[in-house]
This record gives sequence, structure tokens and C-alpha cells, in this order.
Amino acid sequence: MKLIDKFNREINYLRLSVSEHCNYRCFYCRDGDHITKCKREDILSYEEIEKIIQIFAQLGVSKVRLTGGEPLLRRGIVKIAKLISRIDGINDVPLSTNAHLLAKFAKKLHQNGVNRVNISIDSLIPKRFNEITRGGDLSEVIKGIDMAIQIGMKPIKINVVVMRDVNDDEIESMLDFAIAKNIDVRFIETMPIGSVGIKALEQHISEKDILIKINKHLDNKLIPINARQTDGPAHNFKIQGTNSTVGIIAAVSQHFCQTCNRVRLTAKGDLILCLGQENAISLKDALRSGLTDDEIKHMILDAINKKPEKHEFNTVVDNISNRQMVEIGG
Ligand code: GTP
Ligand code: 5AD
Ligand code: SF4
Repeated sequence: MKLIDKFNREINYLRLSVSEHCNYRCFYCRDGDHITKCKREDILSYEEIEKIIQIFAQLGVSKVRLTGGEPLLRRGIVKIAKLISRIDGINDVPLSTNAHLLAKFAKKLHQNGVNRVNISIDSLIPKRFNEITRGGDLSEVIKGIDMAIQIGMKPIKINVVVMRDVNDDEIESMLDFAIAKNIDVRFIETMPIGSVGIKALEQHISEKDILIKINKHLDNKLIPINARQTDGPAHNFKIQGTNSTVGIIAAVSQHFCQTCNRVRLTAKGDLILCLGQENAISLKDALRSGLTDDEIKHMILDAINKKPEKHEFNTVVDNISNRQMVEIGG
């Protein structure tokens, strides 16, 4: 059985947030005074996560990305990785992290099914990095990246949210950094999610402008790469003569929703059908009210049928103003 929505899109990618907590406070992601109000019993247990992922796997999902908040803050993250990666049909268990704690966890995660990692890093200048993340320590993040390289995670992608007059002068140094370390880099357009995301739109730079800078720096050495079925939303290019690729995630300037293949499950068990729309159902309530696996499967099929066609970042800017990116995991 497959999850096909009414726009004929196949959903094979689940983004699983395992914690709403984050040890960083990136200014475009969460309010300065945002606190996580989340009791232990509010979040899905290991058993509940396992049950839900088993059902998704039976419905054709093969890729489960661990996100947060910051996923490495979840107690038992290694155990969660292990139980997910052992589920029949799941063959890709990547992690999206700020990497502050990655040096400590990388090896154990890799041994327990996390094959690859995407790391958020918006500046290579320590003071600027600390300001963007409101307290982050660049040296810890670099240690995390180096450890992931050392233990052989592959691919390793760094995610850079590009913002005018904040870090747009670092596109070139980020490319050089990725090439020198033989890893991949993706540049992300700011998205208007939550009040801080809406504010960050003032610093928005489009894919077109980002590409002009990349091409100038790399002397037009980009070769387009075709997307595979379970890939995320980036447009990717091989950088000729290197072991690196560069990608652009152009959520605002280029609508990529027609090829959307993913849904999100929050730490509290809400299945979010689109990053840019409110539609959601509670799978935690379904599980805790004693529904059978079959009934839950039908609930999911029904929800997928209601997956919105697209976000409306370009038209209705405040329809998700109450959403905190940190609670959804991007
Ligand atoms: P790969 O599996 O490596 O292709 O990763 P990914 O790009 O799917 O995941 P990652 O967590 O690295 O996300 C990178 C950026 O893409 C983040 O800013 C996400 O918010 C954004 N992103 C991922 N999926 C979607 C989506 O469905 N819609 C929108 N608008 N943005 C998304
Ligand atoms: N716009 C674009 N990307 C964002 N992220 C968090 N908030 C936003 C936003 N408003 C990114 C993080 C991380 C990924 C999971 O989501 O920087 O790379
Ligand atoms: Fe920053 Fe990621 Fe934490 Fe958001 S979830 S505050 S983007 S490190």
C-alpha cells in the first residue's frame, strides 16, 4: 500500500521531530523569549514512535529524518535511531542537527542506523555565529562536523540560511569550507514561518541571487543533478573538479510543492501535512484512545488525502504566524 495524495504525490519521507527543546535560539527560528512547555507525558514514547513508524513503513515510507528542536537533546536518541532503522522498509535514517553535541553522539548514532547528517551552520565567523544562534559555539559545531567526517557518515550536508546583511557575504567562504572538507552545502531561502520567520523575510535573498554569487565564485562549474524519489526540496549541483555538491532550497521564490513527498510528525504526536499550512491530526490521541493499527492506518490515509496542494508563503504571509519552526523541525 502506498500513500498517494489527491494531487498524485507519493509520500515516502517522514520528518520526525523527537524533541521540541533546542540548545540554540536562532533568531529566525524561535522568539527570543520562547520557552518549551512540554511535559514528559506530552511527547511520544519509544513504543509509540516505533508503532507509528511501523505503520508508515507499511504505507510505503522508506525515509525517516530525525529532527527537533535539537534531536540530540532527546534522552534515548540512540535507542530511537536503532529502533527506527530496524523497521522493515526503512532504509534511510538521516539526522538534522545544529551539531553542538554531535562530536559526542556521532559514532553511537552511526553504529545504530543513522547513515548521514545535515548540519545547520549559518556563519563561519565565531562572533557572528554566536549572535545568530544567540549563544551558540562555532568551535563545538566544527568539532561535530569533523567527527561526522572521521567516522564516515556520508553524505554530510551543511545547511546555511542566507540572509541579506547578516551572512550573505559568506556564500563564498561556505563553498570553500565545504569543498575543503569534501562535504556538501545547501543555501536556504528564509521562510515566513512564525512571527520571527515573517520578520526574517525582510532579509530574504532569492535562489537567483544566491546562484549568481555561487557561479561567480566557482567560475560556472555547476552540473545539475537529477532528484531521486525520496529527496528533499533542494535543487542540487555537482561542483566540477571537487567531491562536493551545492544545493539551493528556494521555498519562497520557486514553488517546489508539486513534487512534495513528505509529512511531519511532531514530538507531541501531531501529523503536520504541510510545513506552510495549519492542517494536522493527532496520532498520539489516536494511539492513546486505543485505536487498532488498521484504524490508525486509515486515519493516516484519510489525512494524506487532505494534504494541502501547496504553501502560500508568497500570498498569505501570516496564516502560520503562530507556528514556531523550532517545534516542527523545519
Ligand atoms: P535531504 O534528505 O538531505 O534532501 O534533506 P532535507 O533538505 O529534506 O532536510 P533538512 O532537514 O536538511 O532541511 C533543509 C531545509 O529544507 C530546512 O530549512 C527545511 O525547513 C526545508 N524543508 C524541508 N522540507 C520542506 C518542505 O516540505 N517545505 C518547505 N517549504 N521547506 C522544507
Ligand atoms: N526559514 C528557513 N529555514 C529555516 N530553518 C529554521 N527556520 C527557518 C526559516 N524561517 C532551518 C534551520 C535548519 C533547518 C532544519 O531549518 O536553519 O537548517
Ligand atoms: Fe536554530 Fe535549529 Fe534550534 Fe531552530 S531548531 S533554534 S534553527 S538550531
